[in-house]
Amino acid sequence: MAKAVVIVTRRWPQETEARLQELFDARLNTDDRPMDEARLQAALREADVVLPTVSDRITAAVLEAPPGKTRILANFGVGFNHIDIKAAKRLGIVVTNTPEVLTDCTADIAMLLLLGAARRGSEGERHLRAGDWTGWRPTHMLGTRVSGKTLGLIGFGRIARAMTKRARLGFDMRIIFHDPYPPPTELAQELQAEARNSVEEVLREADFVSLHCPGGKDTRHLLNRERIAMMKPGAFLINSARGDVIDEAALAAALQNGQLAGAGLDVYEHEPEINADLLSLENVFLLPHLGSASHETRVAMGMRAIDNVQAFLSGQEPPDRVA
Ligand code: DGY
Repeated sequence: MAKAVVIVTRRWPQETEARLQELFDARLNTDDRPMDEARLQAALREADVVLPTVSDRITAAVLEAPPGKTRILANFGVGFNHIDIKAAKRLGIVVTNTPEVLTDCTADIAMLLLLGAARRGSEGERHLRAGDWTGWRPTHMLGTRVSGKTLGLIGFGRIARAMTKRARLGFDMRIIFHDPYPPPTELAQELQAEARNSVEEVLREADFVSLHCPGGKDTRHLLNRERIAMMKPGAFLINSARGDVIDEAALAAALQNGQLAGAGLDVYEHEPEINADLLSLENVFLLPHLGSASHETRVAMGMRAIDNVQAFLSGQEPPDRVA
């Protein structure tokens, strides 16, 4: 029987590309250039399976371009707000993601952003590399203490819970959270995390606010000018979720006028373009969407996407089906 044609939209770690080639008629993206709308439409015409990532915009226009052959989009990543899920459902295209395997690494990055912003990590390194360091002194580059402070989580899914463990056990932080779909009370108690009834309550009480909600139209600019103004003076905003959850212009203004002490960002509204005001500020710790970027995790994500494809092609329900 002919092998299924599988199109991979970006480079994957070597082990996972080798596995794809073993199992399928895999068409790899060896130059790793992001695919534009026309290339994505061609992929959907030619392949039984397309393996996209967060850098592909799988819009209704992409999905609806006739005649489509693809029956499954096995996304390399947990977030899927770059795929028009409604259009995929309408066209009977199955969509899967890769949860769990990236939870710890993404929580690590959220913690890195929090620590880096509070303790001025990247600013300090820039200062040193520029040759501006004149030596130790009691008032040099004072940051903000993290231990014992209140961490407010917006969303309390897997990654937020993993961050809770790090912040509670490692830094003795008090944890508060809001999630429209809260976990069972016993689970929150076990993690020593206190639920709040609204996003606003969390914002008013937390020294550090970390975002862990999905992206998409329901959460777009959840952190807008009004809500950012509710945050405690001198608080920090951390985002390892999706860029469009924050109104970046409003965040830059709050950082410029000193209402917020700092921010740590791994994701951006218009990736890979970065808001020029944010780029010009010293008190923002900026990373290039590295949440899941450890070798082990990226291999595990690829293998998980492959598991979903294999299940689908053998007529079973893919374990990580989201549409
Ligand atoms: C994810 O898995 O959603 C990461 O942000 C990379 O796409």
